[in-house]
Amino acid sequence: MKWDLNYLEENIGTSDFTVFQSSNHKFKYYDEKKIPKLNAEFIPPTTKLSMKFSEFTKCLTETKDSNSRLYLQECLNNNLGAEIVRDFLNFDWQFCTTIQSKHSWGPLTSNLLLVGMEGNVSPCHYDEQQNLFAQVLGHKRCILFPPEQFECLYPHPVFHPHDRQSMVDFDNPDHVRFPKFKELKGWETVIGPGEVLYIPIYWWHHIESLLAGGPTVTINFWYKAKPNGSVTYPLKGHQKVAIMRNIEKMLVDVLQDPNDVSPLLRAIVLGRYTEHT
Ligand code: FUM
Ligand code: FE
Repeated sequence: MKWDLNYLEENIGTSDFTVFQSSNHKFKYYDEKKIPKLNAEFIPPTTKLSMKFSEFTKCLTETKDSNSRLYLQECLNNNLGAEIVRDFLNFDWQFCTTIQSKHSWGPLTSNLLLVGMEGNVSPCHYDEQQNLFAQVLGHKRCILFPPEQFECLYPHPVFHPHDRQSMVDFDNPDHVRFPKFKELKGWETVIGPGEVLYIPIYWWHHIESLLAGGPTVTINFWYKAKPNGSVTYPLKGHQKVAIMRNIEKMLVDVLQDPNDVSPLLRAIVLGRYTEHT
């Protein structure tokens, strides 16, 4: 695949790209829409910038020796250069659509282009879509954990801007606050150019661009989940996570104050659904 940084710079066009800047190696995702209502004091861990691709590559060279890092993350759309659109149309779409139809996934919703610096980390989180993660340039270390390990990973509450992100700092885990993190077990792999990793919906993933591996380019193919058919029991881990998310959202919605959620859940559970109070 010819999509190295020079080729992209020459052919991707002159539209603006979203680039996150971090003062460390972590790029923890946050949902801006969740800041105003209940999280006014939230301080985003990264700064969101907008720049042309050529400015981005220039900044990459300039930031190489500083602590500051950059990660370009932009959905591919129709304001890309003609050559890039042609490359994209020439992708092995059959590979993707065969998997999509075999597993009855819904439609493709978006393609996210990620261009990162070596050592960049996307901290552990899960997404609500099926993802075919296509590595184009450089290598990424990916650690995946099944949805059943929800209790070991302590996601932020659903109304929080870091919804779907683990609260545990993998570099320095707080074992007192997050005791079950010790029980976490995952699958680790390193993917390189031409390889595609399937990241199933609701599966946790921690992804890092290998240190000393040069820049990385990835394209995510996100597909909607298979539409709900008849439910069979026992429920699967991801279905339970979806149920928990719905209950949590409903409670915050009706109570209007996230602080009221815990007393209510405790009143329902303690001594009634628990053996010990
Ligand atoms: O950094 C990454 O490649 C992250 C991708 C993802 O979370 O889907
Ligand atoms: Fe993700």
